[in-house]
Amino acid sequence: MTRRTIVAMPGDGIGKVVLNETIRILNSAGFEADYVEGDIGWEFWCKEGNPLPKRTVELLKKHKIGLFGAITSKPKDDAANELAPALQNKGLVYSSPIVGLRQYFNLDICIRPCKTYKGNPLNFIRRGKGGAIEEPIVDVVIFRQNTEGLYGGVEWSNPDNIVYAALTSHPKFVKNFGSVPREDLSISTRIFTRTGTTRILMAAFEYAKKNGYKSVTLCEKPNVIRETSGMMFKLAQEIQKKKFPEIELWNTNIDAQMMWLTKNPENYGVIVAGNMFGDIVSDGFAGLIGGLGFACSAQMSDEGIAVFEPTHGSAPKYAGYSVSIVNPIAMVESACMMLEYLEEKETAARIRKAVAEVIEEGKVQTYDMMKMTGSADVLANGAASTQQMADVIIEKLKTKYSNNPDYEYEKNS
Ligand code: NAI
Ligand code: MG
Repeated sequence: MTRRTIVAMPGDGIGKVVLNETIRILNSAGFEADYVEGDIGWEFWCKEGNPLPKRTVELLKKHKIGLFGAITSKPKDDAANELAPALQNKGLVYSSPIVGLRQYFNLDICIRPCKTYKGNPLNFIRRGKGGAIEEPIVDVVIFRQNTEGLYGGVEWSNPDNIVYAALTSHPKFVKNFGSVPREDLSISTRIFTRTGTTRILMAAFEYAKKNGYKSVTLCEKPNVIRETSGMMFKLAQEIQKKKFPEIELWNTNIDAQMMWLTKNPENYGVIVAGNMFGDIVSDGFAGLIGGLGFACSAQMSDEGIAVFEPTHGSAPKYAGYSVSIVNPIAMVESACMMLEYLEEKETAARIRKAVAEVIEEGKVQTYDMMKMTGSADVLANGAASTQQMADVIIEKLKTKYSNNPDYEYEKNS
C-alpha cells in the first residue's frame, strides 16, 4: 500500500466532527495516509474575505485527493454583514467555496450512490398486494453534472444594458417579461455545454456497463426546457445508440421521477441528470435509504483531482453541541468511495462491512436512525453520539474486519 496524502477540508459546523471521526475510522482500517488540513468555509470568509483561500486550492493541486466535510453558506446580505469590519464595504462578494472548488478544478462528474442498508429502520416501506408491508431494495447511482446548469453562477438582478438588450432579442422575453421594470428582474441562467453533458452521460453509461445495470435513466425535462434538457436527451440517444446498444435509455421528467421514486424505487439503477435536477433527485433517493445521514458522494475531474463529501450540509443547529449527535455514516461512505477511487478496494469493503453490520445489528444508532428530533436530550434517551457510532465501527474493524493477519480467522468466519 502506498502512503497517501489527503487534503482534509472539514469546513463548518458538523463537517468538522464527521470528518474527524471518519479519519479515525480510516486509520483503524489500516489506510496509510497523512492528512493535511485545508482551510475552507465561513470562518475564512469572515476573517479573510475568501471562503476558499488560495493555499487550500494549492494543497489540492499538489495532493489531488480531498475529503470534505461541509460548509455553511448564507444569503448575500448576511455574508456582507458578518465580514470582519476591516473587510467591509470593499466590494467582496461571497460565493459558495464548494461550488467554487468544483468549478476551479472542473470536478464535473458527481456520483451519488443510494443503496439500501439491510436493517436500517429508516428504509422506505410501502404496502403491497393484500396490504402486506414491502421493503423494496434501493440500488441507485446518480450521476450529476456538477459544474454547469443552474448552479453555474451566471446571474443578474436589475440587468445592465448589454444583458437587457440580449434578453430583448428573444421574442418570448419581450412577450412575457417585456413590460416588467428592469429593477424587478432577477435572472439565473442554465448553461449546458456539449462537452460537459457528453462527459456526464458517458460516465453514467460506462458505469452501468461495468456494473451490470440494464438501463440508464436520463432525468431532465426536455419537453419544456427544450434547449438544455433537449440537448442532453439528444446526446444521450446518440451515445446509447452508437456506444452502448446493450443498455436501455429511459427518459423521465424530474417532476414525474420524484413521484415514481416514492412508488417504485427498485425500478431504477443508474440515473443521469444536469446539476440541479441531479441534486434534487439524489436527495429524493437518499430519503429512501435513511436520509442525509447516509448520503455520500464523489466528484472528480478529468485531470485526476477528486473530492469526496457527504451530500449533507453543515447542519448549523447541531454544530455547537458539546457532544455531537449527528450521523457520521454519510462521511464514512464518502471516504469509502475515495478508497475505491484509489484502488484500495479491500479496505473500502472492510469498512463497508463494518458499517453494514452495525446498522443491521441496530444496537448503536444515532438519533436520526431512532426517528428522534435532534436535541441534546437524544443521548439520554438512548441515541448514540457521533463518536460512539464511530467507535462501534472501529470495534468491528479491529475484531471482525481487521487487516491484521492475527484476525484472519475472524475475517473468514
Ligand atoms: P443540512 O444538510 O446541513 O441539514 C439539514 C438537516 O438534515 C439537518 O438539520 C439535520 O436534521 C439533517 N442532517 C444533515 N446531516 C445530518 C447528519 N449527518 N446526521 C443526522 N442528520 C443530519 O442542510 P441545511 O440545513 O439546508 O443547510 C445548512 C447549511 O449547510 C447551509 O448554510 C447550507 O448552505 C449548507 N450546505 C452545504 C452543503 C455542502 O457543504 N456541500 C450542502 C448542503 C447545504
Ligand atoms: Mg443538495
